Amino acid sequence: MPDDATARLVSKLVPQTPALVYAESELVETASRIQRMTSEAGCDLTYAMKPCTLAWTLETISPFVTGFAASSPFEARLARQVLGDRGNLHYHSVAVTDSEYEEISELADYMSLNSINQFQARQSQSTDGISLGMRVNPGISFVADERYDPCRRHSKLGAPIDALSNVESSELDGLMFHTNCESDDLRHLLATVNTVERRLSHLVSGLDWINLGGGYMFREGADISLLRQAVEILRNHADAKVFIEPGGAFVRDAGYIISTVLDIFDANGVDIAVLDTTINHMPEVFEYQFEPEVLDYQPEGEHRYILAGRSCLAGDIFGDYTFDQPLKIGDRVTFTEMGAYTQPKAHTFNGINLPDVYAFTKTGNLSLLASMTYEDFSARNGAHQLAYS
Ligand SMILES: Cc1ncc(COP(=O)(O)O)c(C=O)c1O
Repeated sequence: MPDDATARLVSKLVPQTPALVYAESELVETASRIQRMTSEAGCDLTYAMKPCTLAWTLETISPFVTGFAASSPFEARLARQVLGDRGNLHYHSVAVTDSEYEEISELADYMSLNSINQFQARQSQSTDGISLGMRVNPGISFVADERYDPCRRHSKLGAPIDALSNVESSELDGLMFHTNCESDDLRHLLATVNTVERRLSHLVSGLDWINLGGGYMFREGADISLLRQAVEILRNHADAKVFIEPGGAFVRDAGYIISTVLDIFDANGVDIAVLDTTINHMPEVFEYQFEPEVLDYQPEGEHRYILAGRSCLAGDIFGDYTFDQPLKIGDRVTFTEMGAYTQPKAHTFNGINLPDVYAFTKTGNLSLLASMTYEDFSARNGAHQLAYS
């Protein structure tokens, strides 16, 4: 759970809004909890960097993990910039081109190819130093919303498990599967491992590594004996390293978006509070259509507002909230649990600038990590090509 005292403090401290703030103490506390749980179960822990690619975040997490998992050449390069020669780099992408393969082979230690076609193409191009495996789709769904279900019907994510029944164990170094999303239920992982072991036992026995993917939150109280059982099932068949690579679980609670109320007006009986942020700074709010957690929201509070983003989109709305105290123009509104899939997904629709990004260090300092200027915006829009630039 994010810490309200930290949220209150950072919301006062940031010099201007909108701002995305990562609290070091929460990041470290979460990373050490996940490390304790996964090492108890016998897994090598990796951070799947996609929910937050800030170099500072990678550096802060790196002492707790054996490496990172990247999904594109840019992520892989950034991961190596942070890791240097230390640590493992895993690479999985839905498709890898010839030139990407050349580049990634220099950076990564493990690569999971997404289809038999892709695997065979890379096998024939094989270079020393990278261990090649495949992503398998075990075909058991746990995610209700198909858009986020890696095991949906006709899924593009991984070779269907049946397609691997004819692959020889000597061909593959490893297997990867990732089948869940924000789950607290490690029974799902155990069921998945049981299926993989039963259906692909001929393959599993010859593997050097098995990567269990991410998708689990590892909150306090998670039943780690289930993960231990899953690892033991695999180890009974193979003398393989077992990796697990959560993403969102590391960073979600450590991130806050701080915004300021720009306007308040009555819209047919309900007060709209327009903020200086937008759902485009946290696009999953719109994608998933959920109401994000807001500091000081009180379900029984007597002051009701629709919190709205400042873009032109009618649906740029965070939700309907009540507070004990009335909001005023100039007040700060703080969204909590905003650390995952926020920073890398945010965009500048309407030309609205991205939030400044800060680290709130354990020593109580706010340190500016990233800030987008008008020059960055104009360069991204090709303005350097204009005759008068
Ligand atoms: C292969 C793989 N590993 C790990 C992750 C991280 O998942 P999460 O952030 O849900 O833990 C993802 C997310 O899409 C993924 O596709």
